[in-house]
Amino acid sequence: MRFSDKRVIVTGAANGLGAAIARQFAAEGSIVAIADIDEKGAAATAAAIVEVGGRATAYRLDVTDPQGWDDLVRSLSKNCGGIDILVNNAAIASGLVRIEDRTPQDWDRSMAINAKGPFLGTRAVLPVFRANGGGTIVNVSSVAGLGQSQIMDPAYACSKAALTMLTHITAAQHAAEGVRCNSVHPGPVDSKLARSAYAQPSAFDKRISRVPAGRLAQVFEVVNAVLYLASDDSSYITGAGLPVDGGALVQ
Ligand SMILES: NC(=O)c1ccc[n+]([C@@H]2O[C@H](COP(=O)([O-])OP(=O)(O)OC[C@H]3O[C@@H](n4cnc5c(N)ncnc54)[C@H](O)[C@@H]3O)[C@@H](O)[C@H]2O)c1
Repeated sequence: MRFSDKRVIVTGAANGLGAAIARQFAAEGSIVAIADIDEKGAAATAAAIVEVGGRATAYRLDVTDPQGWDDLVRSLSKNCGGIDILVNNAAIASGLVRIEDRTPQDWDRSMAINAKGPFLGTRAVLPVFRANGGGTIVNVSSVAGLGQSQIMDPAYACSKAALTMLTHITAAQHAAEGVRCNSVHPGPVDSKLARSAYAQPSAFDKRISRVPAGRLAQVFEVVNAVLYLASDDSSYITGAGLPVDGGALVQ
């Protein structure tokens, strides 16, 4: 198995893509920490994994809380002897509005969860990675972090753009320590988040018209990309951003 006994943190794993990523890591042999602010959802994801013979534990984590990260890393180091992989997946998406309609509070919240959260996670795991001789980080970003600017919410897109640069900096500054860091950039995924964002048929059609493949991504297609970048199959790839977008960014 690709991830036999690998110790993995997946943030935002109570729901959606994060839960699917966590399930796949567990199916491939990992010991998974389901870290989410949604305690009930995290417990349900962990229970579903354990029920089918996998290994997972739920942790309450607000990714914006530095102390929460320190506690999580300390507890995993104690219980599992270390951490091998961090997937920074937790994020919030805000509806598309013009810059002048986006409040400063919305901006701060998006930046805190989507950009500062992955920064705090990276900062917390690096000493453990160093002590273990290396580790891998996958940041779940978005096409919004790279382009399609005409149809993106300013707060969400700028938070994901910050995550792109965090990926580059982590990769460049820590490669010599055996740390790899890459990002995945999904276009719209067949998920609760996308279904509510594009609930109106006209909004859905408009969004899909910007995707050459003409359809939403399926969750497994994003999961496969995350696990590829977390695995040794991508051992010489670091600092890369992998679009999973049906061609949206090359339109
Ligand atoms: N769904 C899409 O169409 C799509 C497209 C591109 C990128 N993405 C990215 O994929 C990732 C997952 O998206 P999703 O569709 O599964 O979203 P989702 O809303 O279903 O799940 C997000 C999870 O993050 C958690 N979370 C939110 N704030 C948190 C905090 N402060 N601390 C800890 N956990 C917190 C939520 O509780 C939830 O479990 C996000 O990074 C998102 O930006 C999604």
